[in-house]
Amino acid sequence: MQNRLRRAARATALLASLLALPLTPAGLAAQGFDPMRPGGGFNPMLPGGGQPSGTAPADDVPRNPDFADLPDTPGMEDTYYLCSACHSLDIVTQQRLTDARWDYTWTWMVEQQGMAEMDAETKETILSYLKRHFSSER
Ligand code: HEC
Repeated sequence: MQNRLRRAARATALLASLLALPLTPAGLAAQGFDPMRPGGGFNPMLPGGGQPSGTAPADDVPRNPDFADLPDTPGMEDTYYLCSACHSLDIVTQQRLTDARWDYTWTWMVEQQGMAEMDAETKETILSYLKRHFSSER
């Protein structure tokens, strides 16, 4: 009798620890989700795992803090000054558009949103900058 009870208790404890394992904070942290970390970590319950999406280019090009943290490659300054005149650059850097869609966005900015058309060289510089860093094609 004693023995059976003890064995049952041991089995219950084992079962409980097995069930509890993935639910402990340590278990969740091991999966990359820490509910105590503000805004951080992978959360399987959120779309995209709760990870920030699309704001950082996949490459590790250095960012320039003087230019809204844009990737520091040729065309950055022109892009910054033109595109931040009317709205936050976030609206630009959040995008992952196809190259064709960037061309279209340029035309749309000019024809519908009142953006000044640039000379061909500046336009080419800025569009290749946008396509280099914020395209869905690379
Ligand atoms: C003259 C003002 C002006 C300038 C300059 C300008 N934009 Fe815009 N842009 C707007 C306005 C206004 C909207 C919001 C339009 C709307 O949502 O109806 C907008 C929206 C956008 C959007 C969001 C489109 C969407 O799907 O919601 C993108 C992307 C964008 N602009 C890119 C650019 C880029 C890139 C540049 C620089 C080459 C630029 N804009 C320069 C006025 C401007």
